[in-house]
Amino acid sequence: MRYLNIYNNYDLSIDHAHGVYIYDKEGNKYIDTFAGIGVLALGHSHPEVTEEIKSKLDRYAHTSNFFLDEDTETVADLITSEGEKAFFVNSGTEATELALKIIKKKIGDSKILFFSNSFHGRSLGALSVNGFPGIRDQFKPLLPGMVEAEFNNIEDLERTAAENPDIKAVMFEPLQGSGGVQPADKDFVDKLKSLCKANNWIMAVDEVQAGLYRTGKRYSYEHFDLEADITTAAKALGGGLPLGAVIMAGEMTEVLEPGDHGSTFAPNPLALRAAKVVLEKLEKMQDSITERGNYFLEELKMIESENIKEVRGIGLMLGIELKNEIPNLRDKAAENGILLNVLKGKTIRFLPALNITKEEIDAIIIKLKELI
Ligand SMILES: Cc1ncc(COP(=O)(O)O)c(C=O)c1O
Repeated sequence: MRYLNIYNNYDLSIDHAHGVYIYDKEGNKYIDTFAGIGVLALGHSHPEVTEEIKSKLDRYAHTSNFFLDEDTETVADLITSEGEKAFFVNSGTEATELALKIIKKKIGDSKILFFSNSFHGRSLGALSVNGFPGIRDQFKPLLPGMVEAEFNNIEDLERTAAENPDIKAVMFEPLQGSGGVQPADKDFVDKLKSLCKANNWIMAVDEVQAGLYRTGKRYSYEHFDLEADITTAAKALGGGLPLGAVIMAGEMTEVLEPGDHGSTFAPNPLALRAAKVVLEKLEKMQDSITERGNYFLEELKMIESENIKEVRGIGLMLGIELKNEIPNLRDKAAENGILLNVLKGKTIRFLPALNITKEEIDAIIIKLKELI
């Protein structure tokens, strides 16, 4: 095999996928609880997304950044508020890279604060603010001037801020995804907000996973009463095609100049068209996402199992933390017709399609009851 496979793939070969279901080449049907890691907000093969991509593909597939695409401004409008600007990239990691570049251009040698268990990507820049030592430290030395504090630990945050008066920005994932579907505590966010205000820190919020209506609001930071100077988005943005964005507010809109950043591929015209379809639909689904998210959460809480430590999350970004690892849970689940994303063996993360129905949620719950 010449493909260097360093992923822990499922032992199944996909034939096709539709809505919340994936079908393998042997004719087996699986219910998908994580939708391409939170990417397929309208489910697999959504007819309108597919149709719009196809019709644009018939006209052109790629043009490069020499041309402004017909959908760029519409998508920028859909992800920004008045006074903000968006720049498009190809992925969440690239969005982190650009956010760091904007910050570094603004603050020079000053320091950037980040938090344990926060995930912002795997490039060298993104790893420099990545709160997972296991995937970060083997690549050291990384960018200088990055300071880590413990997520949800107010004392540690205060101590870190006091010891590093030259911190001038913070990279924050208010609802940690890869960190185990872990929301920031209100008191912790309040402390962070007051430190930002007192010290004039730039607040960069990573919304790659929790953003774009996954929690029922356009950005998860709205649940935390936060304001962002810089916001990163990706995953759901391109409707299954690679697209990321950095949203800048206030002074941040003036940092980048021609030549400061760019990509041959971004923004891909097909991804932009998909983004337009997806975002226009999601905007109208906020209440229903919240309602079905609450339903899912309550149903998860009603699963009776000695092995459940906690059920948590917001909207349709939910997790079950287990007390003890269930050996081969992922593969046992697949044999049972359900695809699960199990983090560190202990937390089952649910990032289903945002148009999942209550009946489909019920089907997931029935299978989970058998498994845990
Ligand atoms: C919060 C967060 N930020 C950044 C990234 C990196 O995004 P990508 O995998 O698109 O590069 C991820 C990916 O899971 C993420 O969850």
